[in-house]
Order: sequence, then C-alpha cells, then structure tokens
Amino acid sequence: MKIFITGGAGYIGSYVAYLLRNQDYEIAIFDNLENGHRWALKDSRFYFGDLRNFNQILDAIYDFKPDAIMHFAAYIKVEESVNDPYKYYENNVLGSLNLIKAALLNKVKYFIFSSTAAVYGIPKNIPVSENETCMPINPYGQSKLMVENILKDISKSSFLKFGILRYFNVAGADVKAKLGQANKKPTHLITRVLRAALGKIPYIEIYGTDYPTKDGTCIRDYIHIKDLAQAHIDVLNYIKEEDKSDIFNVGYGKGYSVKEIIDIAKKITKIDFPVKVGKRRKGDPPILIANAEKLKKLTNWEPKYNKIETIIEDAWEWEKYLNSNPTLFEY
Ligand SMILES: NC(=O)c1ccc[n+]([C@@H]2O[C@H](COP(=O)([O-])OP(=O)(O)OC[C@H]3O[C@@H](n4cnc5c(N)ncnc54)[C@H](O)[C@@H]3O)[C@@H](O)[C@H]2O)c1
Repeated sequence: MKIFITGGAGYIGSYVAYLLRNQDYEIAIFDNLENGHRWALKDSRFYFGDLRNFNQILDAIYDFKPDAIMHFAAYIKVEESVNDPYKYYENNVLGSLNLIKAALLNKVKYFIFSSTAAVYGIPKNIPVSENETCMPINPYGQSKLMVENILKDISKSSFLKFGILRYFNVAGADVKAKLGQANKKPTHLITRVLRAALGKIPYIEIYGTDYPTKDGTCIRDYIHIKDLAQAHIDVLNYIKEEDKSDIFNVGYGKGYSVKEIIDIAKKITKIDFPVKVGKRRKGDPPILIANAEKLKKLTNWEPKYNKIETIIEDAWEWEKYLNSNPTLFEY
C-alpha cells in the first residue's frame, strides 16, 4: 500500500513514516521543511513543497499516486495561534483544503488526519470521550475542528473515507531510530523540562498552581510517540476493512500533573533544575484525560509504552543525543 505523508519531516510524521517503512508500506513525504528537518526524512522519497500552493501538492500526489494520505503538516502552537490567527487558518485550513482537493482529483480513498484534544476546549466530562461537545477556545483548536468538519461533509458526498485521530499530549522519542522532537522553541512540557535539566533554558515555569486539582497544577494525559504512531496504522486498517470513516481519541486515560512530571524528571535526570511558579495561561483546561476505549475496542491498537517513566526516560535520552550532535540541531 502506498502512503503519502504530509509533514513527514516533523516530530510525529517522521516517526510514523519510519514505522510504516518498517512495516513494508511504500511511502513518500511532502514537507516545506519550515519546522521539520532533512535528517528526519531518512532516505524516504521526498517532495519539497508547501500545502498552501495547490499546484505543488497536486503535482506531488499525481506523481506518487498514493492509496492513502496521512496529513500531519500544520502549525501547532496554541499561543502563536491566538496572536496570529490568520497564519493558522491559512496553513491548517487552506493547506488541508488544497490537500483534500488534490486527493479527490487523484481518487485517493483513505485520509488520516492529525487532530488534537484542543478541539474539545474545556471539556465538561473527564475522561473525555469522542462524543464530548467540541468547543475549541483558541484558533489552533478551531482550525483543526474546521478540517474535521470539512472531512465529514466531503466524505458524505464522495468516496473519501477518513480516520481522525485526536491526540492528547505527545511525548517521548526513539533514540535507536534517531527520531524525536527537535523544535527550537518547544511548548511541550516534557521537552521543556528536560531542556531545563540540560541548562538549555534557565528554568521551568509552572503556569498556575491554583487549579482545582490535587496539587493545584494542570493535569494532562501523556502518550508515547511510539504508541501514537502505531495508532495511525491501526486506524487506517480499520477504516479500510470496515469501509467507513471514524474519529478516535489517542491517549492512555491516565493523567499526571505538571508538578508530578517535574518530580519524575528530576529523579530520572538526577538534576535539580530550577522551577518557578508563574501565573495561569489563558485557556488551559485544568484537566485533560482521554477516554481512548473506542480505539482499543474497534482497532488492534494496544498501548505498549504507557509508563510515564518510559516516556520521560526516552525523551531524556533523545535530548542528550540532540545536545551532543550540534550538526543536527542548534538550540
Ligand atoms: N505534538 C503534539 O503534541 C501534537 C498534539 C496534538 C496534535 N498534533 C498534530 O500533529 C501534527 C504533527 O505535529 P508535530 O508535533 O509533528 O509538528 P511539527 O511542527 O514537528 O511537524 C509539522 C511538519 O509539517 C511541516 N509543515 C507545516 N506547514 C506546512 C506546509 N504548509 N506545507 C508543507 N509542510 C508543512 C513542517 O515543516 C513540519 O515538518 C500537527 O498536525 C499537529 O496539529 C500534535
């Protein structure tokens, strides 16, 4: 089966590409390398291009003739999306529309889309199931929900079948595969905590200690990149075998507070890095935990790397690897 991967030079797309190749799929990557890395492509077939340019994406899909698309390319920073919403709607929505149009013109039947728990906004029910009302509270989440809705409407009026994966907090890496997150200004807690441990940032700031949680800090559901990546393949198999579209949460159903993550990271790194308490950020839900029973029930997906220590240990190995390879990455 031939799979076309947008954003395959980025953190998640590159690992899914690696896994697909290990499982004998034929793949091609499309990326503008704005936030991705050439080394993350390994020696995959590569189309350099930008989704906002319709002809570039159309030509690549026409040339590769995939059976399925996995669409990772997007801007991903919540705060930036609040300050520059146009940038987010243009890249995430217009870019997706161009991709979907190119898919339809080339009769690509299966479409896997990277969505996010940010589509729920501040959910009423925890753990959050896929049936929760979606009310995003920032342009990033809104842009992802718009694409979900576009896919739903288009699949009703065409041959297209989609699998939407709503990821919770993705973390971890695979040092053996030499793949992990390599973002210059990461917003992800675990990456930031480990960069603080390495002294790459002066301290880690906790955004609010007055939330209605056990220790006052926000609680999140962290999923290992290895399990997240496999979920894409399992969902693709499901929509293909069942010949239907569906939406899945991807998380473990277990939450850790910011303080707990910091404490575990201090134990693993054996470094007592500085921590500062700051104010709440706008729009952070106190608790976000996935109900991922649907994914487990309907597909072959089973979590394998779901110990928080494994996630942080693997992320730590990766940060040390990046730190010792300045040709790969400059902070
Ligand atoms: N990282 C997370 O915790 C998380 C959580 C929920 C959802 N997601 C979703 O997962 C997807 C991948 O996230 P990531 O963490 O790998 O991000 P990333 O920034 O590492 O990767 C995104 C890739 O897309 C490319 N790209 C962006 N815009 C493009 C365009 N117009 N044309 C071509 N290429 C373009 C970038 O160069 C980059 O290589 C995103 O859609 C994101 O919304 C991520």
